Amino acid sequence: MQQITIRRPDDWHLHLRDGAMLNAVAPETARHFGRAIIMPNLVPPVVTGDQAAAYRDRILAALPEGAEFEPLMTLYLTEDTDPDDLARAHADGLIKAVKLYPAGATTNSASGVRDFDKVRPVLEKMAEIGCPMCVHGEVVDDDIDIFDREAVFIDRVLDPLRQKTPDLRVVMEHITTKQGVDYAATGGDALGATITTHHLVINRNAILVGGIKPHYYCLPVAKREEHRLALRAAATSGDSSYFLGTDSAPHLDEAKLSPCGCAGCFTATNTMSILAEVFEQDNALDKLEGFASLHGPKFYGLAANEATLTLTKGDAVSYPTEIKTAEGPVTVFDPMMPLHWQVS
Ligand code: DOR
Ligand code: ZN
Repeated sequence: MQQITIRRPDDWHLHLRDGAMLNAVAPETARHFGRAIIMPNLVPPVVTGDQAAAYRDRILAALPEGAEFEPLMTLYLTEDTDPDDLARAHADGLIKAVKLYPAGATTNSASGVRDFDKVRPVLEKMAEIGCPMCVHGEVVDDDIDIFDREAVFIDRVLDPLRQKTPDLRVVMEHITTKQGVDYAATGGDALGATITTHHLVINRNAILVGGIKPHYYCLPVAKREEHRLALRAAATSGDSSYFLGTDSAPHLDEAKLSPCGCAGCFTATNTMSILAEVFEQDNALDKLEGFASLHGPKFYGLAANEATLTLTKGDAVSYPTEIKTAEGPVTVFDPMMPLHWQVS
């Protein structure tokens, strides 16, 4: 029998939604994770400090009794964001970051940014007060192939933006390419990158070979195998530029299994077992704690969790294939490999 004990992990990129979905998925994350950066892409989005405070209360109300889980709130950056409201919410400790969605890049991003010059004063304010920006790094131009959107974003948007506002601390969210891995390593303490569980496991074949598999469709879309291998090397390297952000993104099955299916993989339930399997395969179990529990707090200037989580290796572990919500089922990500590490 093999066992590892790590500091309780955090999820630095999580979608909890609202209402019936929130009630169903919040316990899935709270079971294993100490904290999570909560994405603000509700409908309507979480734009003001007051909205973030109200959303935080709804999340806390959805947690099981006795849960030791702290939601870390974010604001959704729009071209109308008020820098003073943002600064107040940050000074109060209510928000830990601001999320930049290029308009049209993904689920509920219509209120995102079209003209990056319009948010320059807000970015300057964030740099001044030390509020990090979490970035969905994809361009939305019609003429850019969907598999190239992350790499083009780095060249055309992210690098120029960081050069204009060098003190702004940035998290490249859910990187999916070798270019993302390489760029994240260049920014020192001012730059970090989250990597999802599913992008460590699947390449684009999972979505397209043998029929269309909507449950493997997410954004940024999974890329070629060489990119998945670059992500695996980064996550298991021990380099603190990279940390876990699951981007666990629940959608009802009826919304995934549709002629225009929603993007998102729901991994909250089995993420830690999958990660242990992945890190073991790469002979890097000793790096799992850094990736899941230490590098994220370091970037955000927070202490690592005091509590611990133990994973024990044994016979194959099974997880529910779906989570029930009051509005229908949500399919749990199937890693297409047996899992042997049980969280105790
Ligand atoms: O796959 C994704 N789902 N990517 C995102 O950027 C958004 C997310 C969602 O909210 O469903
Ligand atoms: Zn996301």
